[in-house]
Amino acid sequence: MCGIVGCILNNKKAAPVLLGCVKRLEYRGYDSVGIATPTHKIQIKKDQGKIVDVDKNLKLADLPGTMGIAHVRWATHGLPTKENAHPHTDCENKIAVVHNGIIENYKTLKEQLEDEGHVFKSETDTEVIPHLIEKYMDAGEDLENATRHALTDLKGSYAIAVMSKNEPDKIIGARKESPLIVGKNENEYFVASDVPAILEYTNKIIYLNDYEMAILGENGVLIKDIDGNLIEREIEVIEWTPDMAEKGGYDHFMIKEIHEQPEAVKNTLLEASEIKKVVQKLPGFSRICFVACGTSYHASLTGKYLFESRLGIPTDVVLASEFGYSSRTLNEETLVILITQSGETADTLKALRIANKKAKTLAIVNVLGSTATRESDYVIYTRAGPEIGVAATKTYVSQLTCIYLLLIYLSGRHELLDILQKIPDHMVSALEKENKIRDIAKKYKNTPDFFFIGRGFSYPTAMEGALKLKEITYIHGEGYPAGELKHGPLALLDEGVPVVAVAPPGKSHDKTFGNVEEVKARGAQVIALGSRSDEILKSEAHEMIEFEDEIDEMFSPIPYIIPLQLLAYHISVEKGIDPDKPKNLAKCVTVE
Ligand code: G6P
Repeated sequence: MCGIVGCILNNKKAAPVLLGCVKRLEYRGYDSVGIATPTHKIQIKKDQGKIVDVDKNLKLADLPGTMGIAHVRWATHGLPTKENAHPHTDCENKIAVVHNGIIENYKTLKEQLEDEGHVFKSETDTEVIPHLIEKYMDAGEDLENATRHALTDLKGSYAIAVMSKNEPDKIIGARKESPLIVGKNENEYFVASDVPAILEYTNKIIYLNDYEMAILGENGVLIKDIDGNLIEREIEVIEWTPDMAEKGGYDHFMIKEIHEQPEAVKNTLLEASEIKKVVQKLPGFSRICFVACGTSYHASLTGKYLFESRLGIPTDVVLASEFGYSSRTLNEETLVILITQSGETADTLKALRIANKKAKTLAIVNVLGSTATRESDYVIYTRAGPEIGVAATKTYVSQLTCIYLLLIYLSGRHELLDILQKIPDHMVSALEKENKIRDIAKKYKNTPDFFFIGRGFSYPTAMEGALKLKEITYIHGEGYPAGELKHGPLALLDEGVPVVAVAPPGKSHDKTFGNVEEVKARGAQVIALGSRSDEILKSEAHEMIEFEDEIDEMFSPIPYIIPLQLLAYHISVEKGIDPDKPKNLAKCVTVE
């Protein structure tokens, strides 16, 4: 939800580097920003607002010193205000802390600390941390031990970076249920919420686990457990280039990522042999249960249609936030497949922990080293590269590719690989429709409602199309199984309402076509997605997005989602909305 970063540099000013890092973290939170550097005292510049605006007013990069910590906030406790922006300090301004997560027992701790004379300046849960550290340092502990001591008082989740003017050559990082990584160069050290934040400066990364601390300072980087025991941890070299984490010439990350999709699918296909190995290791199971949130849920829903129709295995799909209410039927015969781009979504991690007690778990994840990858029995990486746009796009098609590969290796139907290999070409053709879709976006940008309909494999596509529209255009979009329209939503169809009909060739086509006629008879504007040779659909639709005839419904979910992503993107741009930063949403939701 929030992004944190800290660095110790070698003879170089830290503040400009920290500013660059938090700009890359902006997708994690963007309602406030702040930087602290310690010299003879702790100096802080922070405020509410987007980084670019706060920097214009406060000149964040002007802070002196060769080390510091920084934060971008997405408010959970306390309104987005200057006082609530991080870093937070103790009473004497000698300790500064940045935090991502939620301290659940902060009210009790705050009351206790106030009784002991501590004075609080913000409404945040975070502020208890510097005051606790202050309390233990005042009692004679050094920064490392006082931080460790403070952490044992906390309930909830945290990734933190801490520094003190009393030990102005040290940064302490620690994590529990919120991501934190350490980066290393020769004589330069970083902590950050994730890799893209620091990739410009180093690609040598150490992943911290829960209840671990990193001590950055004159001894380099030391990783310790919560009891202070040293831990040996390998450094991983990340192959993402800084360019991959940049916009690469596009106006927004989202459109860049939409265009990266054929490449993303190709990269996922390179994982085929790894996926095969995972399948070979899987224990026997007679039932599958997918668990996910948001876009990853729609990929899972496609998995259900695939696995039930092509594998004959009973397959459930459960929203992660609902999983705890329905998991009692799990047993060792169940394979629980968790799909999560970030590997850090709190709802999904909670479901994973429940599932781990009763069944075997397999996580399909994009972010290497994320919590889901470390806590699941088996892991498959989507390898889509970093995704910065809040609305998931390339990670969705990579997740779908993983599901097809799983199906292929579970069913032994290797001939399907040839069809899958051709999908990136079909995606390129779909991207070539962008101009046409931009025109459609201009035409419908002021409509208050949209419907997306499809059956079978196209139902999750319709759902995902509606989600993209809602997320980044703030237009009400309903994704519906086409056959269900008559049981309610049809009452909402007025003259001129756009209905996007996902109608690839296959078993569902004719019935979906019937629904197209049904909505058209009620005055709807039909935007159809179908085969080039589907003359009858073309004749009924007001707008038609055409695909190659050979893409049947089973493989349609990957290419057919592209026009719907483009439609949402271009409506968003037409409306003057920043599609990379939709209001009220975050890329990675680390609270339940
Ligand atoms: C947030 C994001 C969505 C994403 C969902 C699940 O809501 O805004 O784009 O689909 O989380 O995220 P995950 O990382 O678990 O796939």
